[in-house]
Amino acid sequence: MPIKLKNLTKKFGDYTAVNNITLSIEDSKITVLIGPSGCGKTTTLKMINGLIKRTEGNIFFNEISIDKINPIDLRRRIGYVIQEIGLFPHMNVYQNIAVVPKLLGWKENKIKNRINELLELVNLNPEENIFKYPKQLSGGQKQRVGVARALAADPEILLMDEPFGAIDPINREKLQDAFIDIQEKIKKTIVFVTHDIREAIKLGDSISVFNTGKIEQSGKTFEIIKKPKNKFVSNLIGNHAEINTLEFRKAENSIDKDFSAVKINASDTNLLKEQKNSYVIFLDDNNNFLGILSKEKISQLSTENYLNNLKTYFITPDSTLLDAAGIMLSKGINTVPVISAEKKVLGVIKYETIFQEE
Ligand SMILES: Nc1ncnc2c1ncn2[C@@H]1O[C@H](COP(=O)(O)OP(=O)(O)OP(=O)(O)O)[C@@H](O)[C@H]1O
Ligand SMILES: [Mg+2]
Repeated sequence: MPIKLKNLTKKFGDYTAVNNITLSIEDSKITVLIGPSGCGKTTTLKMINGLIKRTEGNIFFNEISIDKINPIDLRRRIGYVIQEIGLFPHMNVYQNIAVVPKLLGWKENKIKNRINELLELVNLNPEENIFKYPKQLSGGQKQRVGVARALAADPEILLMDEPFGAIDPINREKLQDAFIDIQEKIKKTIVFVTHDIREAIKLGDSISVFNTGKIEQSGKTFEIIKKPKNKFVSNLIGNHAEINTLEFRKAENSIDKDFSAVKINASDTNLLKEQKNSYVIFLDDNNNFLGILSKEKISQLSTENYLNNLKTYFITPDSTLLDAAGIMLSKGINTVPVISAEKKVLGVIKYETIFQEE
């Protein structure tokens, strides 16, 4: 269910915590809100689920104003993962997850089945964990219970306020990976708050950059990285954001098909010199990939030596651009061939394509 924030403002006394923001949140996608501490992210989430009342503007779910939706209904349709986890310490895992279903008057049997299903979804063994109290769980496990609790009543929308903020970097990566898998199954409309730009890029289909109650820029993650609108956004993204996205981009989408290739038997010096690219790919009689050499290297070698000196590195179309970048950076080269399972050359990935500056 898509959400629209229209000229939304929240004042606490004289202080404007959220200042006239307008934002469309796409259905079944992850929208990340990122920005410095105190910029109004949590306040925005709380207005979306009706925990606090807005001062001005409006919030629409499927074009219907939040004022026209009854609060119980809203609670059922929106799951909320609170900042700092927020499990109730005196309730065990079962009781924590059961809070909203109980509010909605579900039968005990239905609640039990749902909780088993959810614990499996978030990869916690139900038998081992269902009667544990929060203090008996690790940070990551608590976080998973927090996600399960937010999903309990199968809401259409999930609001997540820095859900992995308190987790160490290694477990954070694991939780993010698990979360990507979960979202592939549940396909909810998710608003996800974070401080961490890596996390934003990894999880966000779209990103909204907040700065003291205002939105500096909103858009598809890759567009924001490519074209930060101003200094604030580009500082936030930093120099390495481009590299961070590479592991999520498939090589097959960046193949340059205009490559230079010759049959090894035909590789006389003149033919090689005629090739317009800075490298030459060598093929066998069946047009299968044998290897690649830079023209510079070729100029240093006698024809007989080509076969022994061919570089045989390559990537497959389902490799990522991070794989391609890794090969380039470790071998000090600027072109990597992309080879099919049948050993045919599909094209090349070039350094400039990956680290393109616009
Ligand atoms: N109930 C309140 N009364 C007064 N001021 C508040 C209240 N809640 C939040 N604020 C103020 O509004 C601003 C935005 O707070 P908010 O919690 O939305 O920030 P945030 O972006 O979530 O920050 P963080 O990243 O630290 O969680 C802050 O300056 C905060 O002090
Ligand atoms: Mg907050």
